[in-house]
Amino acid sequence: MLTNDSNPATPVIEIHDLHKAYGDLEVLKGVSMTAPRGHVTSLIGSSGSGKSTLLRCANLLEDSQRGEILFEGEPITWKGEGLHRRPSDPKQVMRIRTNLSMVFQQFNLWAHMTVLENVMEAPITVLGRARAEVEEKARMYLDKVGIGDKCDVYPAQMSGGQQQRAAIARALCMEPRALLFDEPTSALDPELEQEVIKVIKALAEEGRTMIIVTHDMRMASDISDHVIFLHQGLIEEEGTPSDLFGTPKSERLKQFLSATVPA
Ligand SMILES: Nc1ncnc2c1ncn2[C@@H]1O[C@H](COP(=O)(O)OP(=O)(O)OP(=O)(O)O)[C@@H](O)[C@H]1O
Ligand SMILES: [Mg+2]
Repeated sequence: MLTNDSNPATPVIEIHDLHKAYGDLEVLKGVSMTAPRGHVTSLIGSSGSGKSTLLRCANLLEDSQRGEILFEGEPITWKGEGLHRRPSDPKQVMRIRTNLSMVFQQFNLWAHMTVLENVMEAPITVLGRARAEVEEKARMYLDKVGIGDKCDVYPAQMSGGQQQRAAIARALCMEPRALLFDEPTSALDPELEQEVIKVIKALAEEGRTMIIVTHDMRMASDISDHVIFLHQGLIEEEGTPSDLFGTPKSERLKQFLSATVPA
């Protein structure tokens, strides 16, 4: 069981002073953030600032060299140091990964499986849930993202927006403690983007815990409780959307916003 499971005040994810390098390239230089339960936290920043890396470190898809990561109050245990540091408990890694569902820019659906099969696959194979129970949930989540009528089609027969909604249903069907999105709309053209934003907004309104990496400042502003601006591997500024977008303080954030937000 998860240690602080029942305490709503315990953040789903806490990261303290995280450092991450790829060889000589320092990508995260001491980043601290939390994903409080029921909150939407957005990560913004220019290309290469470390947003995806931070998300992947939070999910233990990437190793990090220094700093702590806690999942629902439970610290990740490490072995080794520096570039050799790795999580020491494979069961802990598995438990955390299955409780943090990622949605990527490229939807990564299995081409040889129908949409329904795609959504059902991980709860059955990874969580060992019963097929009938999973099918019922999968249909419910596909309905929720507005593609309940697409259960039996293959991904290639759907639009990009529909595929991304299927990927969101697949993430939801794991019933994770948090959803992590890495630019979920950036591969879509503007019209399809709106379909996906609508789904993400509805999830935010339901009070799901989410971390969203996005270039879409309007979405970040609309749905976030907290926005973090990363610059060259450090948090340059953070706060509520109205602080960050309304009264940005650092020159770098002002520059970034003037380049990304349409006048
Ligand atoms: N697997 C890797 N090996 C080596 N360097 C990497 C790797 N992944 C990322 N990097 C480097 O780390 C830095 C941060 O990359 P990251 O993908 O986190 O940026 P980002 O903020 O997500 O950018 P974008 O907005 O373009 O997605 C970049 O300089 C990138 O080249
Ligand atoms: Mg990225």
